[in-house]
Amino acid sequence: MSFVDLSNFYHILHPRPVVLVVTCSREGRVNVMSASWITPIAEDEPTLGVAISRDTYTRKLLDEIPELTINVPSIDLVDEVWKAGTTSGREVDKTKILKLRFASSEKVRPPHIEDCVGYVEAKVRQIVPVAEVDFIICDVLLARVRSDLLYRGQNVDHRKARILLHVAGRAFSYIRDIVYPRSGSR
Ligand SMILES: Cc1cc2nc3c(=O)[nH]c(=O)nc-3n(C[C@H](O)[C@H](O)[C@H](O)COP(=O)(O)O)c2cc1C
Repeated sequence: MSFVDLSNFYHILHPRPVVLVVTCSREGRVNVMSASWITPIAEDEPTLGVAISRDTYTRKLLDEIPELTINVPSIDLVDEVWKAGTTSGREVDKTKILKLRFASSEKVRPPHIEDCVGYVEAKVRQIVPVAEVDFIICDVLLARVRSDLLYRGQNVDHRKARILLHVAGRAFSYIRDIVYPRSGSR
């Protein structure tokens, strides 16, 4: 087998879920940005990390109110995700241009997005600067999924949820099939 060098290492680490990060200012102005560099970190102390460029409006708002919601869109929101990821809240009020419905959160000030498959409410725990980015480590305060998308108790029915995956640039995808290893039980 022969391999070739990638100019961007992360192309081999995609596709990955893309989320809508919602933050707000001290005065209550709400902003939304798209982020695909997000990962769960620990279970015993539920935590996740998201890499946020230091030049985003989102990063500025996290200094004002260190709370956020992480909203998981389906493929149906691909246009909104693209817009949220290619415009800045510094220039435009995205809550006015995006076709998204916001609802009050339970444990944090930023609202969550009702049109999503599920969402997480989180508080900033630690910020790790790396080059042009801040890796925002957050405590997860709650996580919810749409009730009609649950499968066998606590699993998400991914065939129905069609969670949006970011492939590269303008390319997106979603899961169309699920496979299981031959050994062991499901
Ligand atoms: C699919 C997609 C994924 C993105 N992922 C990230 C990400 O993980 N981290 C990041 O800092 N920016 C990411 N961006 C870029 C931001 O969403 C973009 O800079 C946005 O304009 C920031 O908005 P704001 O200035 O209102 O915060 C992504 C954009 C797209 C379209």
